[in-house]
Amino acid sequence: MPVSDAAEVRTTSRERTDCGLTPCRPLLKWPGGKRSELPLIAPRIPEHSRYFEPFFGGGSVYFDSIDSESYANDLHPDLMEFYRCVKHNDERFFKRLYSVVEEWELAPLAGRDAIYYECRKRYNASTITTVQRAADFFLLRELAYGGMFRVNANGDFNVPFGRAYAKNKNLREKVDHLRSDVVAAKMEHLSLSALDFADFLDCFEFRQEDFMFVDPPYDSSFSKYDTLDFAEQDQRRLAEALMQFTGRFMLVCKATPLIEDLYHGVEHLRVHHYEYQYKFNIKGRFSRSSTHAMITNYEAALVTSEAS
Ligand SMILES: C[S@@+](CC[C@H](N)C(=O)[O-])C[C@H]1O[C@@H](n2cnc3c(N)ncnc32)[C@H](O)[C@@H]1O
Repeated sequence: MPVSDAAEVRTTSRERTDCGLTPCRPLLKWPGGKRSELPLIAPRIPEHSRYFEPFFGGGSVYFDSIDSESYANDLHPDLMEFYRCVKHNDERFFKRLYSVVEEWELAPLAGRDAIYYECRKRYNASTITTVQRAADFFLLRELAYGGMFRVNANGDFNVPFGRAYAKNKNLREKVDHLRSDVVAAKMEHLSLSALDFADFLDCFEFRQEDFMFVDPPYDSSFSKYDTLDFAEQDQRRLAEALMQFTGRFMLVCKATPLIEDLYHGVEHLRVHHYEYQYKFNIKGRFSRSSTHAMITNYEAALVTSEAS
């Protein structure tokens, strides 16, 4: 069902701080995170009563911009167990993290890679508990080369240590952030689940005042999250679900022929394009641009000068 165009857009991050919302940086590194696109996204989030995010990942939009009753979902079980541990201030989880932090601080720089490989070994062992696994998962996300996801044929995580982190990474500060008041306030009104997006959507009766931010894996062969694949049929399932969605939604994704085919020309949708500059940290020498699409079922026009 089409929704009204009269969705009020929100104010900028700075203005929002003045009106009581405390932006918070994401809790962990996540490929495909939307932090650098926040200046385009945040001002176009309409007023809403409940917030939904079916592909939560690092939750950069939620942690920066949302203070309403919220529902976060992601099919990655370790990721959602990690958020559960943070939300409930899980003692065993933090004990594990701080014991690694102490080891890290005592180790000579040249010995820090061994700490990473020990975490990787534990994470890949089938004998650890889900809480221990969530702690090791967080450490691997922080310390793996390029923040990459990659598993071998046996499903074992096999990304090497990011050697530059030996010198630069302040692990204690990262773990302290997970226990900070600003994070506790963010987690208080956040419900968590680890379902396929369609099962997540089936859990609710959506209302027009609801808002959903949709950031699925890109329609590209590089967008695999561990063993999670998001193929053409999943993009199609998502498009079908969005056509039925009765609240307001914003979908952000790379503009590919499939995405154009699924969303272009649909009567109640607005499709805007903008150029996105990927930056690679190989001595700052390489960057690549691609066209992204912002698709909404309410009016959220991009101003041309912003969209470059
Ligand atoms: C582009 S990322 C989201 C990034 C996030 N918005 C951020 O700012 O960090 C896409 C997410 O979809 C999740 N995912 C993949 N397949 C899924 C499915 N079928 N249902 C729900 N989540 C899925 C992945 O685990 C990944 O975290």
